[in-house]
Amino acid sequence: MEKASMGLLIISSLLLVFLSLLSHSSSVASNPTPTPSEWPLQFHSLIWHNRTGILQKVDLWYDFINGRNLNIIQEQLSSDVLYDVEWNNGTSFFYTLDPYKKECNVMYFPVGILRPNWLDGATYLGQRMVDIFLCNVWEKVDFIRYYEDVGTKRPVKWVIFQGQAWYTTHVMTFEVGAVLDDPNWQAPLYCFR
Ligand SMILES: *[C@@H]1O[C@H](CO)[C@@H](O)[C@H](O)[C@H]1NC(C)=O
Ligand SMILES: *[C@@H]1O[C@H](CO)[C@@H](O)[C@H](O)[C@H]1NC(C)=O
Repeated sequence: MEKASMGLLIISSLLLVFLSLLSHSSSVASNPTPTPSEWPLQFHSLIWHNRTGILQKVDLWYDFINGRNLNIIQEQLSSDVLYDVEWNNGTSFFYTLDPYKKECNVMYFPVGILRPNWLDGATYLGQRMVDIFLCNVWEKVDFIRYYEDVGTKRPVKWVIFQGQAWYTTHVMTFEVGAVLDDPNWQAPLYCFR
């Protein structure tokens, strides 16, 4: 009787040692340096943008499947709405739909729109509280800092440093899979004169 219970005790403590070894090794294996999540192929985000003090509300429609990206931009207390449609072939249209202004600029950016994996190769900087979220933080090519919620893996914020200025983006909503209907991507006629 005693021998049997002793045997059980040894077996169970061996099991404990084994389990703790296992959990130790698996926690080591499952904790490599975190990498940023790829962007979903299609999403909609409401964004607050701070361009060194100039605040903007931006409706961002990212649609990699159809090779297009739309920013609908409004500055604080302004009634002007600026549309920025970027196509993956490099053409971008910046326009207002204001019938009295009819303004449009067409520009060409050979790189096209951001790839879903545009953060590949970013350097991990650790964790920080950002806005009210515990985030993993990465730096990419010295001028982009990217903050992703540790729990949900959603982007919380990114900061771009360019020409001595800070551009800060706070992500307010993140609707994965939301797609804007085709007619909303059509630049107006006066872009094609
Ligand atoms: C916007 O950014 C500037 C620094 O570039 C900062 O001084 C200011 O407090 C920010 N404003 C808001 C509302 O976050
Ligand atoms: C890119 O695609 C857009 C939308 O289809 C089109 O309006 C534009 O002319 C194209 N640009 C080039 C350089 O082909």
